[in-house]
Order: sequence, then structure tokens, then C-alpha cells
Amino acid sequence: MPFLNDQNRMWQEKARNVAEKVVRPLARKYDELQEYPWEIKQALAEAGLLGVWIPKEYGGGGGGVLDLCLVIEQISRACGGVGVMYCVNALGSFPILVGGSEEQKKHWLPKIATGEKLIAFCLSEKFAGSDAQSLRLGAKADGASWVLNGEKKWTTNGGAADLYTVFAVTDANSKSRRISAFLVEKGTPGFSIGKIEDKMGIRCVPVVETVFQDVKVETAQLLGGQPGFGFHHAMGTLDLARPGVAAQGLGLAQGALEYAMVYSARRQQFGSPVNSFQMIQQMLADMASQVEAARQLVYASATSLDRKLPGAGKMAAMAKLYATDTAMKVTTDAVQIFGGYGYMKDYPIEKYMRDAKITQIYEGTNQVQRLVVARNLVKETNALTQLLDAYIPREVQVGYNDPATLAAQKAAEPARS
Ligand code: CAA
Repeated sequence: MPFLNDQNRMWQEKARNVAEKVVRPLARKYDELQEYPWEIKQALAEAGLLGVWIPKEYGGGGGGVLDLCLVIEQISRACGGVGVMYCVNALGSFPILVGGSEEQKKHWLPKIATGEKLIAFCLSEKFAGSDAQSLRLGAKADGASWVLNGEKKWTTNGGAADLYTVFAVTDANSKSRRISAFLVEKGTPGFSIGKIEDKMGIRCVPVVETVFQDVKVETAQLLGGQPGFGFHHAMGTLDLARPGVAAQGLGLAQGALEYAMVYSARRQQFGSPVNSFQMIQQMLADMASQVEAARQLVYASATSLDRKLPGAGKMAAMAKLYATDTAMKVTTDAVQIFGGYGYMKDYPIEKYMRDAKITQIYEGTNQVQRLVVARNLVKETNALTQLLDAYIPREVQVGYNDPATLAAQKAAEPARS
């Protein structure tokens, strides 16, 4: 990639190194076991990769969203499960970066950067998925403390994580200041892990229900120290995190394409390698073009966020939906190229397809991403109307026997020579 700078390439190479030496050889084992891969987490921590996105002043690597995406892409190319096991730490810690107090940043970010503490993000509930504002877990003020009661669903990293960013209702009567975020530590009395999900893909990372029964937290654990800003913190976090899921999709698509290239060169039918047949070549060419288009969009959206450019949230949604739809298509086509073998568990490719599916669903379904893009387009329309409206003829409903309308229409017609 000619436009990557030295810092970008440094993170990319470090990640590639861990991905090929540690992640790829262990991917199948942890997929089968459905267990958290602590040895991989250790390798990521030793390579300094767990703090890429955390500023240097808080003990991190000082990289941006683009650096984070480059790392996620390389890891996901080897294993989509490890890709999310890694990037969920960014999702969990972005709220601290977006809305945390200076004390909260100083206390937690250095520990997250070294891998001493793992973190999870608790927004979704059984009845609050896409409609995140409708969440019910409640937090009631009790002197200088808050008491949390309720449940969360789909907590990725749950059980492995030491710290949980928990979104709760602090003012049920408010429309725009209803929700606040709290930093809850594992081991806090009343906080427990509920159902552990048995998943189609991303099997090495736990996804669980988290249960809060009279969980007492101090005001110091309220994100930013002010109640009512939780939804803004959640949305700001998702803007930053969505290119990461897009990068997970990109890595999965790239990894599946590479397996398909190698297998189609080796597999012989009708006396020739199948990659000499035009139908397979067309598939490979389409897959590679789609992967490259996704890559450009992921890198551009990450750069827009790093540069705080207008429209960066819209770009993040575009990247997430395009790259993860590409992941689903390319991994499915890769299974097709492997034929019957591709459907079997002793070949590596079916796992890519299983891991890809969830990327279209979590951190905002791709339907929600389209909603975000469309809402932005509607907002942008006003300025365009001023420029273009005059060039679009207006349809006039002519009333039968309505002389006034006919005269107005005639007057508006261009003169005929
Ligand atoms: N940044 C900051 N603030 C924002 C914002 C943004 N990007 N988008 C909206 N807001 C603010 C608005 O300004 C508004 O503020 P006011 O009330 O002060 O005016 C407020 O948030 C509400 O905005 P909307 O009316 O637009 O919100 P909505 O209810 O219509 O929802 C939505 C919009 C885009 C659908 C949103 O609910 C959403 O993103 N839903 C999907 C949730 C999601 O991604 N969940 C995944 C959880 S993580 C996960 O998947 C698990 C995992 O571990 C991997």
C-alpha cells in the first residue's frame, strides 16, 4: 500500500508476524474448543498490540483508527475469532477515550494497553438490539453510589474481561439524557456471568449474558462523572469502532481469497488446475476486486476518523456494511471454489464463512448502517437542492378545463421557433 506511512507499516508488520506465527497455527484448535485463547492474547500483549489505539500519554502505542484497522485486518486474515477477541478491547475502551474523566483515563487505559486488563462493552439487551436507546438495565442513585439492576445480552469477551463498560438508564423520564455509562469491575458483588452462548463462528471469544443484581458502584465509576451522556458516548464509540469490524470483514475476505487462490492452483479437474478455467478465474477476479474496494473504503473511513473529517461517521457505516457484506460474499465463493471439500471441517475455509456471518450483524446490523448512511444523505440534501433544483423540471398536474393552469404552463414553456 503506497499511501501507508512508516508507523502504519510498522503496526501492520507486527500484526502480520503474530498472525502467521501464533494465530493461524492455533485457529482451528480454539474454534473446536470454543475457549478463550490465552496464549494468543499473551502473544498479542508481548508484541505491544493491545494498546495500539491508546494514546502514548496513557501508556499506549499512540496509533490511530487506521493503525488499529491494519492490525485487525492482519489478525482476521488468519482467524476471524481472534480478530474480534482483539478488537473488542478497542470497542470496550473507546467509551473511556470518548467520554471518560482524566482520572478514569489515567487509571484504566495504561492497564488495558499492556493487556493487564481486558475490557468488554455492554450495550445490547434481550429487548434492545438495533434500538439501543430502549435499553432497560437501571441505575439508581444511592447517596454517593449507584445501584445497577438488570441484564445485558451479547457481551463479547464476557467472563474473560476484567472491566465492563455498562450502559444503564439513570433518568427514565428524560428523552435525550436517559442513559449513562458505568465502569464495572469483574468480582463486584452482584455482578455475574449468565448464559454462555454456543456460536456458529468466532468461537474462540466468549459471548455471554451479564447479570447485575444490586450491583453497587461509586460515582467515580460513572463515565465522565456526569449522568445523561451515555447514549452519546455509545454512538461516538460505535463511530470509532465500526471501521474495526469492517477491517475484520476485510481480513476474513482477504484470507479466504488467498486460500481459494492456492487451492484452485493445486486442484486438478479435466486434466488441468481449476484456476485455468474461466468460470473460476471470473470468480477470483471478482473476489479480488471486491476485497480491494473494501480495503480502500476501510482505510479511507479510518483516516477520516483519525483526521476528524466531516462525514466520518457516515464513512464508518459505509465501510462496515460494504466490507462485511464483501466478507460474506467472498468467503462463500471461496467455499464454492473448494467444492465439497470446502464444506468439510478438516479444510480451513468453512470457518471463514462462519466467522464472516456475524460481522454483518454485530456493532450495528448492516441494515442499521444503511439507516445511518441514508439519514446522513437526507441531511446533505438541503445544500444540494440549492445547486440542482433549478435543473430538474417540475411536474405540473393539469386540471381538465382549468384555463388558469393551462395559461401558466404555456407561459412557462420555452418559446418554439
Ligand atoms: N455520535 C454522537 N451522538 C450521536 C450520534 C453519533 N454518531 N448519533 C446519534 N447521536 C445522538 C443524537 O444527536 C441524539 O442526541 P439528542 O437526543 O441530544 O438530540 C441521540 O444520540 C439520539 O439519536 P437518534 O435519534 O439518531 O437515535 P436513534 O434512537 O434513532 O438510533 C441508531 C440511531 C443509529 C439506530 C442507533 O440506535 C444504533 O446505532 N443502533 C445500533 C446499536 C448497535 O450498534 N449495537 C451494537 C452493540 S455492540 C455489539 O454488537 C456487541 C459486541 O460486543 C461486538
